[in-house]
Amino acid sequence: MALFDWHKHFDPVLSYLNETGNTRWTTALKEQLTRRFEDNPHGDMARWHNALQSLPDVADARVDLNQSAITLTSPGGLDPDAMTRLENGLRGLMPWRKGPFDFFGTYIDTEWRSDWKWDRVAPHLADLAGRTILDVGCGSGYHCWRMAGAGARQVIGIDPGLLFMFQFLAVKGYLGQAPVDLLPVRMEDLPADMECFDTTFSMGVLYHRRSPLDHLLELKGTLRRGGELVLETLVVDGPEGYSLMPEDRYGQMRNVWFLPSCPTLLRWLDRTGFRNARVVDVSETTTDEQRQTDWMRFNSLADFLDPDNPSKTIEGYPGPKRATLIAEKP
Ligand SMILES: C[S@@+](CC[C@H](N)C(=O)[O-])C[C@H]1O[C@@H](n2cnc3c(N)ncnc32)[C@H](O)[C@@H]1O
Repeated sequence: MALFDWHKHFDPVLSYLNETGNTRWTTALKEQLTRRFEDNPHGDMARWHNALQSLPDVADARVDLNQSAITLTSPGGLDPDAMTRLENGLRGLMPWRKGPFDFFGTYIDTEWRSDWKWDRVAPHLADLAGRTILDVGCGSGYHCWRMAGAGARQVIGIDPGLLFMFQFLAVKGYLGQAPVDLLPVRMEDLPADMECFDTTFSMGVLYHRRSPLDHLLELKGTLRRGGELVLETLVVDGPEGYSLMPEDRYGQMRNVWFLPSCPTLLRWLDRTGFRNARVVDVSETTTDEQRQTDWMRFNSLADFLDPDNPSKTIEGYPGPKRATLIAEKP
């Protein structure tokens, strides 16, 4: 199989970062991408890369970024052979967790209705038109596309998950110059204090961080003065100061560290130097929002809850509840 040519996919965003004065980041990225793709490639990379390459070319692809599914269409349509190659290629990139997507009539019903999260968050955001955005832990980039649909000038998502990157590239491959990029790196890999983004999102990441206050400080460092943080994370009920640390797994998830109450989160934002922090939404996650589908055939939320009491996780903790908070960097 052909080696994954990371230059082809990432040189344009590296050039953009250089042109916008982020040379510190491009220097670090070149080393990280070389390590990731050349020195130490992931065991499944050849399979995912082949699946990506098998997708048919569509010369007249169009996209609608403002529907619940990121929707690709082709006025000329795809012939049956191309439709078969499309379906097989996309199946080769399973499991699809974050979406939904509609590739020229092939609808990918993802594990998560990520559009529901967007519908909860979007009404509370400063107008995204013309903004430069960082989406930390962006998964397949579903929300990045929605941000572009809301008029963002440039969106950069970061996520260490390589399958997510290939799923992102499956969409991006049809959209050429779209101002949306996904870099397969972690928050900790970014240089400190870049202070260049107008809005930074961290959705579904804080509870995976062993040191949540450091995560908030890192996020603050990405923002220009007056920039907006959008933080979405698992919370529990409780007074200011309260935070749950699971003994081991939470809802079968590993790497879950702190589930604070909303008043605790507000205090954390205040203590890490954000201003005007407010909770704009609190929602329980249901088995309609996160579930097994034909495109994600592993266990999902219904299997992670107590069958006798679905308001609890299988470990006996309160069931998943998520809060969205918005705050500004002074
Ligand atoms: C629960 S998913 C959330 C995805 C998406 N933001 C959403 O809200 O639907 C958490 C994501 O964070 C990513 N992640 C975990 N640790 C990270 C880190 N240190 N830096 C950046 N992303 C991270 C994971 O790979 C995963 O895709």
